[in-house]
Amino acid sequence: MTAENDEAWLTSAPTEPDEVRRFYDEWADRYDVDLADWDYRAPARLTAMLVEFGDATADALDAGCGTGLSGRALRAGGCTGRLVGIDVSVPSLERAAASGAYDEVQQGDLNRSLAFDDGRFGLLACVGVLTYVPDVERCWREFARVVQPGGVIACSQRDDIWRERHCDDVLDRLTTDGVVEVLALSDPEPYLPQSGDEMASIGARYLALRVL
Ligand SMILES: C[S@@+](CC[C@H](N)C(=O)[O-])C[C@H]1O[C@@H](n2cnc3c(N)ncnc32)[C@H](O)[C@@H]1O
Repeated sequence: MTAENDEAWLTSAPTEPDEVRRFYDEWADRYDVDLADWDYRAPARLTAMLVEFGDATADALDAGCGTGLSGRALRAGGCTGRLVGIDVSVPSLERAAASGAYDEVQQGDLNRSLAFDDGRFGLLACVGVLTYVPDVERCWREFARVVQPGGVIACSQRDDIWRERHCDDVLDRLTTDGVVEVLALSDPEPYLPQSGDEMASIGARYLALRVL
């Protein structure tokens, strides 16, 4: 697979679970280098949101932790609680474990119910992952279940997918139902500004939610 093919695949936002897992399995050994080249800012951006609104000493879930870039950003940003990482890609999880950022990593699928008790975490980060999760409402409700009341969820979502999957409407339903309160929602910001032309033009929105 060439770099150009990789970027075309990423831009197309696939959601077929086996295809997504295989892609990230194969990318795991060079993911960190590519993302550094592409000036990936989402981990630091969402960490800053979590620390601004949440308790940095609370236990945290990195939902879709990949190779551990997001966990390392959480640690660098001052998150000191127990940190659990989940992802569908085992080769990525092996690298995340080796990064030393996590207390525990395990395979988990954000398209399914999460294997954690209600209110298990005080913080939840989901960085660069919702592209692959077609039912965002189900996923955000599940995030709100595993985060305790008063805890904070921070997610990125590509701006094109935000609109395609009607994320404003989803947030309206979650707030009307008293599941979460919106703490912050950014305008689209650069996401992978140094990647190929089409991907570089796609922005990301950064969202922080308080669980009620
Ligand atoms: C762009 S990477 C982000 C990884 C990490 N959070 C970061 O910021 O570097 C997307 C990650 O989502 C994972 N992923 C994709 N679909 C998933 C799913 N349904 N459940 C859990 N992880 C998933 C992939 O395996 C990959 O590691």
